[in-house]
Amino acid sequence: MTHYSTKAVQTGIPRDSQSGIGISADHSIAFHFDSLEQGAEVFASGEGYSYSRVQNPTNHALEARINALEGAEYTVLTASGQAASFTAMLATCMVGDHIVASSSVFGGTSGLLNNVLPNLGIRSSLVENTVQAIQSALTPQTRLIWTEIIGNPACDVPDLGALAQLAHQHGALLVVDNTWAGVGNLCRPFEHGADIIIHSLTKWASGHGNVMGGSVSLRAGVRVDNLPILQTGKPSLLELKGEKALGIKLRAIGNQQIGMVLSPDSSAKIAQGLETLELRLERECQTTLALAQWLEAHPKVKSVAYCGLPSSSWYGLAQKYLKGGYGAVLSFEVENPSDLFKKLELIRIAPNLGDTRTLIVHPWTTTHSRLTDAGKYKSGVTPYLIRLSVGLEALEDLKADLEGAL
Ligand SMILES: Cc1ncc(COP(=O)(O)O)c(C=O)c1O
Repeated sequence: MTHYSTKAVQTGIPRDSQSGIGISADHSIAFHFDSLEQGAEVFASGEGYSYSRVQNPTNHALEARINALEGAEYTVLTASGQAASFTAMLATCMVGDHIVASSSVFGGTSGLLNNVLPNLGIRSSLVENTVQAIQSALTPQTRLIWTEIIGNPACDVPDLGALAQLAHQHGALLVVDNTWAGVGNLCRPFEHGADIIIHSLTKWASGHGNVMGGSVSLRAGVRVDNLPILQTGKPSLLELKGEKALGIKLRAIGNQQIGMVLSPDSSAKIAQGLETLELRLERECQTTLALAQWLEAHPKVKSVAYCGLPSSSWYGLAQKYLKGGYGAVLSFEVENPSDLFKKLELIRIAPNLGDTRTLIVHPWTTTHSRLTDAGKYKSGVTPYLIRLSVGLEALEDLKADLEGAL
């Protein structure tokens, strides 16, 4: 299997006469051991099935599918994208450590960095999404460089190759939130040197706005022996070193110990969503580009942020790192967003992304409202800015709705 579309529908399904064609939910909480010794082995290694909070067949199948689509060595599923980010942070950092992130990361990610991690003695710096700004913020304690492709809502694009090189020279890891690129579809960060990929599977992966989930994936051969947390952690499962250490630690922390585990029902829904991801995203990217071009030429629109527009300062990096489309989200500024929202008849006002339906939101008063005004501007959010997550409706219907409202 070499092609994305084949892997998306075939991976994770056993080929035997006892199995159905598809990934369906197994609701069992506990799993049978053949002997006392086998039970002991499963508990000691952290591998195999014992209790569903640790691992279960449905999640295992979805993890295999995500591994195939991202080119990952190992994936751990979590209850949400937010849980995935928190799991990755906790499994790699400990008291005294430091994270450098681009200031355009999702608001929930900056919330973890600003409000939660400081209580655990982990500091962070949020800086402009350029290699220079990120390099200047590194300290001897920096364990992670954290970035997002594509940035929200400014549609900025990180220089993944340069950031991976920078992280590795510094003994740190590069984490990429690849949510907007749809599980290895528009971008495959491991091919550019990233070490860890985060997903909110709530978005394009599941794709229908009706399930939450997240994942953390590891690149094959990721070097973790310089992470202090892997040398000092206890109890014994967390003391593991070597190639499998980080994967086992992610599962032990995120799933087994804190319990931020994905339910098998959600897992089965997400596995189904992945089967049509490529088709949905292809169509949505085409519609988004056409809307971006049309909005850019519209007299009532002050500005458009979309990395697929040649006028965008991120266009060069977008061409380098995104294949098959520039994403299904654009942002634009108008004089009076409230007035525009009131006049929309088709497009729905809702704070989500990657739904089959087009959703619009005012980041200043919703998704980014908890940031200071300075923080909002730093993330590319102004009072005039509107974010549009483009769904599967016909381009002409979306244009007509926006034209009426403009
Ligand atoms: C880029 C990105 N990462 C992570 C998250 C968090 O995901 P979830 O809502 O599944 O917790 C979101 C949510 O909007 C997101 O847009």
